[in-house]
Amino acid sequence: MGDITALRVDAIVNAANSSLLGGGGVDGAIHSAAGPLLLEECRKIGGCPTGEAKITAGYRLAARFVIHTVGPVWRGGEHGEDDLLARCYRSCFELVRQNEIQSIAFPAISTGAYGFPAERASRIAVREIAAFLENASFVEVTAVCFNKRVYDCYHEALKSI
Ligand code: APR
Repeated sequence: MGDITALRVDAIVNAANSSLLGGGGVDGAIHSAAGPLLLEECRKIGGCPTGEAKITAGYRLAARFVIHTVGPVWRGGEHGEDDLLARCYRSCFELVRQNEIQSIAFPAISTGAYGFPAERASRIAVREIAAFLENASFVEVTAVCFNKRVYDCYHEALKSI
């Protein structure tokens, strides 16, 4: 458990919104730790569709890069939310490959303001991370849980792989 902005890894993942112009939760924490140049770079990107990911520098963060991904808003589970969340992880891993990133940390994407049930989201996260690591075992992947509720969900999900 912990604060993703403190991690000394190649890349931390931001649970952003499609504007990429910052927000609350982990998005707010990352922008405030990285400083104003992060927002300046995000402005130039011009947004990110749900399920996709964009990479920027980390600026004042210990991490070299921030990978911004936009998770789905939970709307009951019948609107493709599971697939969109899985796509967030795959989009982030595509950028890991392209940028030869060796260590990456994820927050529990969509489980805060976007309301995705943590039990279900953690199973998707663990499944996607495990699938990626099958062909990239040299990459260190950390799932950062900001509270015990989410930590317990990830702990449970890990038993199923
Ligand atoms: N470090 C690690 N995890 C964190 C941190 C932090 N500093 N702060 C919050 N979290 C956790 C939350 O506890 C939650 O489990 O990140 C997870 C995702 O929660 P949110 O940050 O609310 O993100 P999300 O649910 O994807 O909603 C995204 O919220 O902040 C806005 O701009 C953002 O509109 C977007 C929406």
